[in-house]
Amino acid sequence: MTTLTQAFDHWIRSDFVALNDKLETAYWQQQDKANVVGVEDDIKQQLLNEGQQHIQALLVEGNTDEGFDNAFDLLGNVGLYMAACRRHELTEPSREQYSPLKEASALAMHIGASIGVTPRFATAHLTTHNRAINGVYKRFTSHPAEQLFIDYNTRAILAYKRAAECLLKIQPLGISHPMTPVLLMQVKEALLDVIRSNQCLFEQLDTDAFFYVVRPYYKPYRVGKEVYRGANAGDFAGINVIDMLLGLCQANDVNYAQMLVDKFLYMMPEDQATLRECMRLPNLMDAFLAAAPQHHASGWYQEAVTAFVQVCKLHGDTAIQHHNQLVEKYIAKPSGDMNTAHLDKVTASGPPLPVLLNQLALLRDKRAAAKRDDVFTRFDDLNTLRRSITKDF
Ligand code: HEM
Repeated sequence: MTTLTQAFDHWIRSDFVALNDKLETAYWQQQDKANVVGVEDDIKQQLLNEGQQHIQALLVEGNTDEGFDNAFDLLGNVGLYMAACRRHELTEPSREQYSPLKEASALAMHIGASIGVTPRFATAHLTTHNRAINGVYKRFTSHPAEQLFIDYNTRAILAYKRAAECLLKIQPLGISHPMTPVLLMQVKEALLDVIRSNQCLFEQLDTDAFFYVVRPYYKPYRVGKEVYRGANAGDFAGINVIDMLLGLCQANDVNYAQMLVDKFLYMMPEDQATLRECMRLPNLMDAFLAAAPQHHASGWYQEAVTAFVQVCKLHGDTAIQHHNQLVEKYIAKPSGDMNTAHLDKVTASGPPLPVLLNQLALLRDKRAAAKRDDVFTRFDDLNTLRRSITKDF
């Protein structure tokens, strides 16, 4: 890390948080908590100017080739600053055609393009790649709801990644290998961890604090001329590795492929490589369906297919939990209660809320292999496998 990078990092971890805290306190005291216009304008200017001074100096310093990790980390810091400017409406993508944060845009685009990621802060910056110093990792505010949200996002992401790694290990072994049920049991454990973590988040996260103080930092913002959608906890490869290797979602399905294409650059380069690789691999559902007629009476088949069906059920349960609990409680419901003037700014990805909710419901139903007449799901195939399970085994 260069001295200038260190100074910026220190600012992000200290004064930046203090300024955001002051602004959040002021917004929170209003009748309309979603309003930011005309509130504490000098604090907003202070945040804008202090960040700008750091970034100006870094831009002059140029590409010092401090390695991927430092470049990615610096991109995260620039991104946190730009996202905060967006949150306080110092920038507003629908108001502008180019980001007024010219230096920050230049630095972000320089770094993003050079390391092969989107030029904005992504989920990894706040979760899996967020270094703690003396127990405190980077965040926008010191509000406990924000820490709770990031802690449980990180937990769930790490657990999904564990599940994905185990599924990838089955690929070279095949479904009849004695280690396959062992690996599937580990997938089950990891998915149960996701469920437990999501349940804690659901029980503990305060709805208003999340909606008014945490979520606004995850809005889309402009870098240069492009608007980049907000970060969401799904921007890692693991969840899609699970979807595709189980065979619940297909890379040649138009909606699912669109989502994959859109999310590539929001992921770490190693995740991009894993996802690309995974899009070319066969899936376990097809392997079990092909083996069932000939091998359903074999011990290996019964043991493996039983674990496989349980894994599919749990993966579906995590998706149902995400949609029916987290999205419903923290996005859909509060949006319904919200002043219509702010409604267009609710989601992190940009589409109108009903469109976004439909997309998420479609993903839930594919993951849960639910019966749908309008789209293909694995409802029938999973039932075929369930029927092939003999109780004696
Ligand atoms: C996407 C809400 C926690 C995984 C989304 C989206 C919303 C949302 C609204 C759509 C993107 C957008 O905002 O535009 C929430 C809420 C959460 C939460 C309100 C908690 C309060 C989590 C957690 C995970 C997760 C803990 C676990 C890793 C995903 C995934 C996606 C996503 C994978 C991408 C779409 C998909 O593949 O399903 N979330 N989320 N979310 N979220 Fe969450």
